[in-house]
Amino acid sequence: MILAAGYGTRMLPATKSQPKEMLPVVDKPVIHYAVEELVSSGIEHITIVTAINKRSVEDYFDRSRDVEEQLAKRNDTHRLEELLAISSMAKIAYVRQAEARGLADAVNTARHLVEDEPFVLVLPDDIIVGEPPATKQLIDCYTEYGGGVVAVEEVPEAEVSSYGIVAGQVLSDRVTKLERMVEKPAVGEAPSRLAIVGRYLLPPSIWPAIDRVVPGYGGELQITDALQMLAREEGMYAYRFEGVRYDTGRPLSLLRASIEIGLRRPDIAPDLRKYLRELDLGSEN
Ligand code: G1P
Repeated sequence: MILAAGYGTRMLPATKSQPKEMLPVVDKPVIHYAVEELVSSGIEHITIVTAINKRSVEDYFDRSRDVEEQLAKRNDTHRLEELLAISSMAKIAYVRQAEARGLADAVNTARHLVEDEPFVLVLPDDIIVGEPPATKQLIDCYTEYGGGVVAVEEVPEAEVSSYGIVAGQVLSDRVTKLERMVEKPAVGEAPSRLAIVGRYLLPPSIWPAIDRVVPGYGGELQITDALQMLAREEGMYAYRFEGVRYDTGRPLSLLRASIEIGLRRPDIAPDLRKYLRELDLGSEN
């Protein structure tokens, strides 16, 4: 399940008239990377939770006959194949969240499509470059420990209030059994510096927990509060994934994503590297 219903306030004005999930990183929209990660982790059925003004997300994963015809006429087989591959990456269903009432509510709108299966929840703003893909790392952790898993990363003290912060009993270098999960604690009140990033593996018991969630941080229904219930009642784990995360919901981080992902692209890397080397960086300010 991919959540693509949020506003993208931090990326205004770029997101004034287009979804944040459609901002490009190199030459693909942000949400493409999320679908790609799920598919390369072995997932075939994807639900995307959208909202008003997100139609272009659906169009992106659909066929685009006009463009396909143009490319065929020009014998641009490479681009044509690339386009066709996008519309056949996965089986995608869409659900719309009618009102921004929080992550737990957004997840709940797609409940009927998931019901009694464990599922991966992705917040696509976070692009994670890693091998194996971050989602696969969570699946492996779930298989080994048998409880819900959240992907975590250590963040600087000053940033704890932008994340769900978790703490618990350290089981191994990468795995922590969770005891506390707090949504966006004030600096100085966080139980650790381990922040939840946008990947979760949730068991079906998340549904009755969501039913019990009451408005929390920001007056919204927080998924972190449902996870805290699971941690207490049946066990939850945090997995410190291997890979690099880019929060494309912030301007500088979006820029970093384009540069660093560009540097991994064989078709772009040589020229990009040359450009960066020769770049006049100016003075400090
Ligand atoms: C959400 C979650 C938060 C998590 C974050 C990761 O917050 O509520 O727990 O740490 O995503 O990106 P948001 O960024 O939607 O405010």
